[in-house]
Amino acid sequence: MSNTHFTGPVPGEFVPERSEDAGAPRPEPADAGAANPPYRRRPRYAGKNPRRFEDKYKEHDPGRYAETIAKVLSSGKTPAGTHRPIMVPEILEVLAPVPGETAVDCTLGYGGHAQELLARLLPGGQLLGLDADPIELPKTTARLRALGFGPETFRSHRSNFAGLPKVLAAAGLAGADVILADLGVSSMQLDEPARGFSTKHNGPLDMRMNPQSGQSAAAFLGRVRPDVLAALLTENADEPFAAVLAPVLAGHAYATTGELAAAIRAVLPRLDKDAQDLSVRRVFQALRIAVNDEFSALDMFLRYLPACLNPGGRVAILTFHSGEERRVTKAFDAGRREGVYAEIAQDALRAAPIERRDNPRSTSARLRWARKADVL
Ligand SMILES: C[S@@+](CC[C@H](N)C(=O)[O-])C[C@H]1O[C@@H](n2cnc3c(N)ncnc32)[C@H](O)[C@@H]1O
Repeated sequence: MSNTHFTGPVPGEFVPERSEDAGAPRPEPADAGAANPPYRRRPRYAGKNPRRFEDKYKEHDPGRYAETIAKVLSSGKTPAGTHRPIMVPEILEVLAPVPGETAVDCTLGYGGHAQELLARLLPGGQLLGLDADPIELPKTTARLRALGFGPETFRSHRSNFAGLPKVLAAAGLAGADVILADLGVSSMQLDEPARGFSTKHNGPLDMRMNPQSGQSAAAFLGRVRPDVLAALLTENADEPFAAVLAPVLAGHAYATTGELAAAIRAVLPRLDKDAQDLSVRRVFQALRIAVNDEFSALDMFLRYLPACLNPGGRVAILTFHSGEERRVTKAFDAGRREGVYAEIAQDALRAAPIERRDNPRSTSARLRWARKADVL
């Protein structure tokens, strides 16, 4: 997988995993000192594991370094530059894709769910993958092509899922038998400091899924009114300190994620570090939702959804916080009452304990599903 921010060793270049003599002086060449060469500082040993995202060259090329990737996965971490699909068995069970059907993955991301769906749609079926992100989409398209999914079975389209009806029409599809939406951001987006989503690594305060349109989080914060910010910190992330944070943060176009995180901590000096970190995460989440207009996109998607499903079609939506969950539940309940959906999930499904242990990002996931009535 290519990485435009790559500054580490050349992929493929041998770098020892473990150096027994790390830190030991290197033997001088036999003629050292003969001609009094200028003093050159010995390069410092870089360490066993690259720490910075851009140095994790093996993880940016998972196909080539399968063993390293397997090790990272077994330690309960997600390798940088990849994304682990959440609740795959549960999603496959509720969506029940069969050969010959048409599926739409509205949030293609790394293509983990898409890959599993495609395997069950063939022969004869097809999957259309949408994503708002123009940086990751071509990489994922190339990855799925390399797995053997040609244009007759898999097509991708850079689009917001709010425009699903138009995308379906442009693709010549009357509707889909299976629709999946796995909301929020991918691990690739979160882990890449340059995208500005990360609370852990410093980077420009951007947070746009599509950095080619709309305004960055920095620009948004610079312009937003304190009362509006307070309301959205509450609405988008249930931030309990919204009222004290908003007047300080609003009107400041913090250049970096680090500056914003430091400003949030400075407003809450009496909280311990863990509590401060939680507030940092919630403020980042609230800003991300605002900058990407995520709730409007979800509302629009939920409104158009029944018209995009074929009779008997199934939809599954993975949500990650209460704002998303409320909207999905309300829309499915209303659709069930009106007879649009023949069946809906009674309760949200959760990731199995083993998945929650292995992939902490699955802990907050809630899966809801609906099946459209056969005849309306
Ligand atoms: C959690 S990831 C999906 C991961 C994917 N299921 C996989 O298995 O790799 C969410 C993806 O949805 C995209 N996304 C979020 N909101 C979107 C929207 N309104 N329209 C289109 N794509 C969106 C993000 O850019 C991100 O790539």
